[in-house]
Amino acid sequence: MGEYTPSTWAVTAFSFSIIIIAISFFAKRLLGYLPNGKKSRKEEQTQAANELLDDTCDAKIDESSGGTPVICGQKTEASAENTADQKMKVVYIWDMDETLILLKSLLNGTYAAAFNGLKDVQKGIEIGRGWEDLILRVCDEFFFYQQTEDYNEPFLDALSEFDDGQDLSDYDFSKDGFGPPYDDPNKRKLSYRHRVIAQKYAQGLHNVLDQETIKVWNNLYESTDAYTDRWLSSARTFLEQLSGGNRISTPHPVSPITTVDSTDMKCRNINVLVTSGSLIPSLVKCLLFRLNDFISHENVYSSWEVGKLQCFKWIKERFGGQSVKYCAIGDGSEECEAAQTMGWPFIGIDLRPGGSNRFPGLTMKTANYYLDVIYGGPDVKKDGQSL
Ligand SMILES: *[C@@H]1O[C@H](CO)[C@@H](O)[C@H](O)[C@H]1NC(C)=O
Repeated sequence: MGEYTPSTWAVTAFSFSIIIIAISFFAKRLLGYLPNGKKSRKEEQTQAANELLDDTCDAKIDESSGGTPVICGQKTEASAENTADQKMKVVYIWDMDETLILLKSLLNGTYAAAFNGLKDVQKGIEIGRGWEDLILRVCDEFFFYQQTEDYNEPFLDALSEFDDGQDLSDYDFSKDGFGPPYDDPNKRKLSYRHRVIAQKYAQGLHNVLDQETIKVWNNLYESTDAYTDRWLSSARTFLEQLSGGNRISTPHPVSPITTVDSTDMKCRNINVLVTSGSLIPSLVKCLLFRLNDFISHENVYSSWEVGKLQCFKWIKERFGGQSVKYCAIGDGSEECEAAQTMGWPFIGIDLRPGGSNRFPGLTMKTANYYLDVIYGGPDVKKDGQSL
């Protein structure tokens, strides 16, 4: 009877195969911003492994047992590298699509279908197409995507060793001969593009787009937010809460991209994005979906080639272990599995209406509950200190 229990995995596996077939008809560049283009690796997962994942990844949340908020500033063991100033912080590792934003589920009707006829499927598809057009247009016109789409890197800093810091104010990106082979001179040319992309990201799209495009963008954002009962703005508000209300306001250097933003080292929680889409469209999506106030360009990772686990490992190396907690949030089995490997709590996002693991719905209380399950409650300190 095992295989006839109401396991959602059979359905999910079937859906994935539909996606693979559907996606294989898309142009290659579409794969860059629609995530999960390369699902074949996941498809190889055995049913048994999937069922195991299902058990652990869909752990029920008992809202009533939610802990008190993890407050930045809580006393911790003295950190090896820093002073008493060093405080406990949480790094939240976000998936993007169908987690912080909705796109594919609008395009394929899954989002609307979950509402049993209450939402106009066609409207969702139109909204999704509007986003596709806008994302590609912004990518190509302002973020060198046409030139660079074959050279995806996992993060913008990846090529900083190639950037010699040359003044780019009069540099002609259309005439520098960037292209194959992907050797050191071309990596330098790509690193220049990454530097400009980082600057544009830091400045925000209002300094990049014309008035007409800004209007189209605002309308699209508002209609999507209305159609999704404020999924977008709720997710954004949640990011803001997690960051303790701190916006990113890096006055951006004209020098090569720095590795770790110094503000990241201070006492505050950090939002990091790890998405299976390619890097430039993902950065553009962060901008268009207004996540850039709470996710800096240094904290956007594309797992397209390397996989989510590798990105999670880099993130852990970067932010350290002693006074840092990690929490992954996403809708896919890859991030769930990677979080388990890392020993991090994982909050699984579920599109269906009515639940708490979606937007609007997800709260600090829920997030802290997940953290407490793995790291222990805030009043259970290793050194016996209690608050
Ligand atoms: C539609 O997209 C969502 C989000 O990626 C996915 O979970 C779902 O399985 C897809 N459904 C179909 C029928 O392709």
